[in-house]
Amino acid sequence: MAEKPEIKVRAAGDADHQNVTQALNEHWGSTRIVTRGRIHATDKLPTLIAEADGEMVGLLTYEIYGQECELITMNAFQRGLGIGTAMLSHLREIAAENNCRGIWLITTNDNVDAMRFYQKKGFFFVAVHRDAVVGARRLKPEIPVIGNHGIPIRDEIELVMPL
Ligand SMILES: CC(C)(COP(=O)(O)OP(=O)(O)OC[C@H]1O[C@@H](n2cnc3c(N)ncnc32)[C@H](O)[C@@H]1OP(=O)(O)O)[C@@H](O)C(=O)NCCC(=O)NCCS
Repeated sequence: MAEKPEIKVRAAGDADHQNVTQALNEHWGSTRIVTRGRIHATDKLPTLIAEADGEMVGLLTYEIYGQECELITMNAFQRGLGIGTAMLSHLREIAAENNCRGIWLITTNDNVDAMRFYQKKGFFFVAVHRDAVVGARRLKPEIPVIGNHGIPIRDEIELVMPL
C-alpha cells in the first residue's frame, strides 16, 4: 500500500469558492443537501479543505447553530489515506471551541462505507428515519433511487459523536 501523504486541513476562503462549488457538484450532483427536511446550500456553508502537496484531496461542509454542529457533507477524493480522519478531527476542534455538545450527521441507508467509517471514529446511531428520503426527494428530485452497492435509498440514518 502507498505511504500515507501528509494531510493538512484548512478553512476554505473566498478564493476557493469556485473549486469548492465544482467539487461539491461533482460529488453530490448539486450543491443542495437535504437533512431532516431542511435544505442546505452547501456552497454557502463553512467548509474545510484537506490538502496533500498543495492539492485539494478532500472537502467537508458543516453548520453550527446553538450548541449543535451538523456535519453536512464529507468527501475524501481518495479513500483510505486518512483524509476523512484528518478533516473530522479538525471539525471536532472547531465544534469544541464553539461549545457544541457533539457533532451530528445524517447519512442514507445505502452508505454502509460511511457508517463503518463514522462508527470507527466514535459516532453512535441515534435514529433511523424510515422513508425520510421520500420526503427529501420532493425537495431535491435529483436524489437517486438506487445508491451504493445497488441498495435502494430510503432512510435517513442519524449519528452523533458526543464531545
Ligand atoms: C467516508 C469517507 C469520508 C472516509 O474517508 P477516508 O479518507 O477514506 O477515511 P480514512 O482514510 O480517514 O479512514 C478512516 C478509517 O476508516 C476505515 N475506512 C474508511 N473507508 C473505508 C472503506 N471504504 N472500507 C473499509 N474501511 C474504511 C479505514 O480503514 C480507517 O481505519 P483506521 O482509522 O483504523 O485506520 C470516504 O470514504 C468518502 O469520501 N466517502 C464518499 C462520500 C461519503 O459517503 N461521505 C460520507 C457521507 S457525508
